[in-house]
Amino acid sequence: MIIAVDGPLASGKGTIARALAQNFGFHYLDTGLLYRAVGLSVVAAGHDPANPAQALAAAQRLDPDQIDMVAARTLAAGAAASQVAAIPTVRAQLLEFQRDFARRLPGAVLDGRDIGTVVCPEAGLKLFVTASETSRARRRLQELRELGEATDFATVLSALRERDARDCARSVAPLRVAPDAHLLDTTDFTIDEAIKAACRLVDSARHNMVVAGGRPERESPPE
Ligand code: DC
Repeated sequence: MIIAVDGPLASGKGTIARALAQNFGFHYLDTGLLYRAVGLSVVAAGHDPANPAQALAAAQRLDPDQIDMVAARTLAAGAAASQVAAIPTVRAQLLEFQRDFARRLPGAVLDGRDIGTVVCPEAGLKLFVTASETSRARRRLQELRELGEATDFATVLSALRERDARDCARSVAPLRVAPDAHLLDTTDFTIDEAIKAACRLVDSARHNMVVAGGRPERESPPE
């Protein structure tokens, strides 16, 4: 089973996706990390993350097992990620790895921006996780402070708006709600409540898959 979890920055999608993977014994891929690592690598080499040739070269060199998780979580990595993510050749380069990952057994949970729309349109369950701009900025600020980054609410809110605008406006695989996605607004939810709501949706999708898979073949009508 493939579970696609999409949504904007700090909506809670990563926490929910990780919890689902753990709860159901599925593999988990944070696809944002791939873009963050590519963005960081371009910046570390002294190039502009909006440069298509440099960004593609970095995507081709990417080893998903060697990503520096701490550096990848910074505000700077997120900004670079959203620039390289707008380059079609970079997205195409990272697509196969994500699709291969999604096929892992017994199942996989992938979170990102285009999982339900582009990477795995065939996913057995699609969640679109969202929350108000203010609560997303608050959560992100807390996350960054825990990582030791000195920043404030206004800076985080403005970076978040910029990222949202770029992720939604790009020409390839923009952030969109898949027509068959379940919307999960976590603004007024605790983490536990959000995870429970997501687990119920997985249970019900699995139940429907079993029912559909086990349905007896229709008998041929009498002559
Ligand atoms: O989820 P995140 O904040 O770690 O993602 C970082 C950036 O990567 C985000 O601004 C958009 C981009 N991204 C994307 O375009 N497609 C994905 N599937 C995941 C992330």
